[in-house]
Amino acid sequence: MLHIKVLGSAAGGGFPQWNCNCNNCSGFRAGNLKAKARTQSSIAVSEDGISWVLINASPDIREQLHLHKEFHPRSGNRDSPIQAVVLVDAQIDHSSGLINLREGNRLPIYTTKAVYEDLTTGYPILSMLDHYCKIDHYPLDVTSDFEIPNFANLSFKPVVLHGKAPPYSPHRQNPQVGDNIGLFITDKQSGKSLFYAPALETIPNKVQALMSDVDCLMVDGTFWTEDEMLTQGVGSKRSAEMGHMPLSGDNGILAMLEQFTKPRKVLIHINNTNPILNEESPEHGKVLAKGIEIAFDGMELTLT
Ligand code: MLT
Ligand code: MN
Ligand code: ZN
Repeated sequence: MLHIKVLGSAAGGGFPQWNCNCNNCSGFRAGNLKAKARTQSSIAVSEDGISWVLINASPDIREQLHLHKEFHPRSGNRDSPIQAVVLVDAQIDHSSGLINLREGNRLPIYTTKAVYEDLTTGYPILSMLDHYCKIDHYPLDVTSDFEIPNFANLSFKPVVLHGKAPPYSPHRQNPQVGDNIGLFITDKQSGKSLFYAPALETIPNKVQALMSDVDCLMVDGTFWTEDEMLTQGVGSKRSAEMGHMPLSGDNGILAMLEQFTKPRKVLIHINNTNPILNEESPEHGKVLAKGIEIAFDGMELTLT
């Protein structure tokens, strides 16, 4: 059985974002937008619903772990069902929550070499953490599957994606293999699989082939349009510059998802500017009409 729990379904900043007055954030605060608040990007997976692998550590992790009782300590003075952490990139919304795990002990963290470099140079959170809880870092070879001790039934495959290293990265302008990965996770007993990719800048044919054959896709739902930050007057970057494809348009993520018949399809990592957050918007309706789900905090999926 593959259990998937969505801890945070929003992109960096969450929804509503502390300093944002976009239509969604201001409408939500004013109480005239039908929408759910969302914390920043993270999921967890488990084969038994007891021990969990955290995938990405969001700055909202403290609240996320508190809200869901499966992540509470079970026995002993110090305990956590989170037994390992895998990061898909070194972005702040996916890594800065590690700082809140510093009271733990010998945290096993799986990242690519490129991500490890960023998190020990431009943003040396792993070097810092080593002074608190000791990090056991496991470098991911992007050409091989990997397994995590205590999760004997789960197999993880890093899928190399084109994308951006974070703005602080020493190699932001010089992309490295492994700056961004997706994760293809299989439950060896049932054969059921998940592909999780909260940032898709492009989708190479090889990745599309893989996506078409999984049981569940949980993918980049960041922006509706390429110029959303500009048209909403909240930023100057286009979605491609941030490493995300828009949902709408002939070459958008929705058009691609429509081609796949097998997987359950879920959008995740949704930016606060995205009109799909408004449950009464045409865009929200359009997504649901295509049989595509919109992740929310606390969403649980079980693949059996
Ligand atoms: C992104 O994926 O581009 C982010 O959500 C940006 C951020 O974390 O600030
Ligand atoms: Mn992000
Ligand atoms: Zn906003």
